[in-house]
Amino acid sequence: MSHEVRVHSTTWLASGVVQVEFRDPAGADLPAWEPGAHLALQLGNGTTREYSLCGDPADRRSWAVAVMREPNSRGGSSWVHERLTAGTLLKVDGPRNNFPLEPAEHHLLIAGGIGVTPMRPMAAELADRGGDWRMLYCGRSRQSMAFAAQLRDIGGDRVRVHADDEHDGPPDLQAELADLAPGTLVYCCGPEPLINAVESALPDPSALRVERFRAPDQPPSTSDDGFDVVCEDSGVRVFVGPDVSVLDALADAGVDVPNSCQEGVCGTCETKVLGGEPEHRDHVLSPGERESGDTMMLCVSRCRSAELVLNL
Ligand code: FES
Repeated sequence: MSHEVRVHSTTWLASGVVQVEFRDPAGADLPAWEPGAHLALQLGNGTTREYSLCGDPADRRSWAVAVMREPNSRGGSSWVHERLTAGTLLKVDGPRNNFPLEPAEHHLLIAGGIGVTPMRPMAAELADRGGDWRMLYCGRSRQSMAFAAQLRDIGGDRVRVHADDEHDGPPDLQAELADLAPGTLVYCCGPEPLINAVESALPDPSALRVERFRAPDQPPSTSDDGFDVVCEDSGVRVFVGPDVSVLDALADAGVDVPNSCQEGVCGTCETKVLGGEPEHRDHVLSPGERESGDTMMLCVSRCRSAELVLNL
């Protein structure tokens, strides 16, 4: 669902990281959200970018996101840094939550760099619940790490801040994850090398919850001969060739499906499947959701059967 919001303020949080606070232009309450949720900002340069909400879910008057200026920005973070000033109006989609904080006996939060943004409200929530949790927050240098002091205020000794330039490089994740208490859920958000290191160090993959900024490289699809897509409601039938996404094939046939990242990481293009066997290639659905085959992400996922029937 789209909302128009106004930039209320911008604040420097750390080197290269700006926080943007949005409010409803008429001062109304904004839709509720829970830790882990993100907004998709419709930037005025024609692109859409997802950013995790990093403020307080109890504050219904404002939404806040923190954006790090990427050295090789594809037009998202540089646009936010250069063009979003107090008073700017823009459209946002969401909030949407692909990274919800599930109940567990113990939680371990691992954040890398700007991956701290969903973790700040998660840490506050876990501290409020009074559960057993701890957090490892890694970054290249302390001056580039947003929310470090705030997280120490929230969690005290439960929060360990690891700045690579104060040590001999990144933390030893093998050691960090070696003796996890049974019943621990590990939440990780950060750059791909950090996520890969956590994935390989964690003995039980089902204990890991991950949110990615970008889709990792993956092998080509196995359904490379193409398949037919049938839209149940409209009756549109379209052939999806090996080099085109379901999303693009449908758009060419006049069926527009809301989308944002086009990399299978945001969940905006999730669509109900009524028939056929999806080949899931996204990074949003859980193993259980994939197995059920109820929905799929049309921007990246394919089909193993000759025909795919969608609720469109
Ligand atoms: S557009 Fe983001 S998952 Fe498809």
